[in-house]
Amino acid sequence: MTVKLKAVVIDNQNEKFTRDIKEIDSGHLKDGNVLIKIDYSSLNYKDAMILKDGGRIVRKFPFVPGIDFSGKVVESEDDRFKKDENIICTGFRVGEAYYGGFSQYAKVDSNFLIKNPKNIDSKKSMMLGTAGFTALQCSFAIKAREELLLGEKVKDVLVTGATGGVGSIAVMILSKMGYDVHAVTGKKDKNDYLKDLGAKNIIDRKDFEGESKLLEKGTWDGVVDTVGGPSLTKILAQVKPNGIVASCGNAGGIKINTTVMPFIIRGVKLWGIDSSGASIKRREFLWNEAEKLIDFNKLKSLTKELSFTELLNIYPKLLEGKFFGRAIVNPNK
Ligand SMILES: NC(=O)c1ccc[n+]([C@@H]2O[C@H](COP(=O)([O-])OP(=O)(O)OC[C@H]3O[C@@H](n4cnc5c(N)ncnc54)[C@H](OP(=O)(O)O)[C@@H]3O)[C@@H](O)[C@H]2O)c1
Repeated sequence: MTVKLKAVVIDNQNEKFTRDIKEIDSGHLKDGNVLIKIDYSSLNYKDAMILKDGGRIVRKFPFVPGIDFSGKVVESEDDRFKKDENIICTGFRVGEAYYGGFSQYAKVDSNFLIKNPKNIDSKKSMMLGTAGFTALQCSFAIKAREELLLGEKVKDVLVTGATGGVGSIAVMILSKMGYDVHAVTGKKDKNDYLKDLGAKNIIDRKDFEGESKLLEKGTWDGVVDTVGGPSLTKILAQVKPNGIVASCGNAGGIKINTTVMPFIIRGVKLWGIDSSGASIKRREFLWNEAEKLIDFNKLKSLTKELSFTELLNIYPKLLEGKFFGRAIVNPNK
């Protein structure tokens, strides 16, 4: 079946980078064995980097970006996925190496898909999207400290980049898990927003600037770090014995300049999070936990629904750190 579809197309001809909304036909969707009619995609930090200039992530042009989407199966060569079934796709280099979700249709490998859990429809799944899935992964990494320490409870958890997509949802999940969440933000006017998500305490991002001692006062049982860069050095020195730092992001930089001291004196664990390559088994587990841990009414109130045109206007705000909450993209808006 060939259909006409509207998509965001990025191109890089003669070193001129462009992003346009175009009509193409589904014959351009060459990868994969399942054709999906997309209901929603979402805007993540990586999408913003790709929309800006390819982010040194997309290598072949023209290209349809969008690292996640939800929708209904239209045609499938895999018996596990039937026509009209609802599916979720995040990661697996979709929107990076394979045409992605800023489109009315996508065609991907069936091994990249999971079926929507009961009670998580297309819209809810992209209100979470890659950011929410990553926040779930990070939160369960923190919770793992309780298992590693045979039941010793986690109490104080730090979340950096707290008003961002991953950060906001991590604040929500970790407070629902019963932890005292300390939210780090650079946005002075977002204290009420973070308290409403469940943060117990708000900390200015500036408090993590400057030189760090080899070890500082051990304060955090767990950290969800979406920022990376110099502040992570200081944070590592402030983790309590056997604390876990779930490092997932680089909104503040890619370099960390630490010592072995937090690791060999306090047994701190630096736990890297890669949502893109997570196994289907872990995906199914985490997506099925979402209903228990997410207040979707609250999440809805912090989610904006964008058309493709609005997406192309708003993505630079993410890169400037001026955006908060989540944005879903409706290809039919
Ligand atoms: N590893 C994975 O699998 C995975 C998956 C998803 C996302 N990520 C990464 O996680 C990070 C967050 O993603 P997101 O989608 O949540 O992005 P986002 O919505 O843009 O949030 C990023 C937040 O980081 C803070 N921030 C921005 N610039 C900063 C700077 N220069 N210094 C310190 N803080 C800064 C801001 O929060 P405040 O103003 O509140 O401080 C901003 O809202 C990104 O680096 C993304 O690439 C990784």
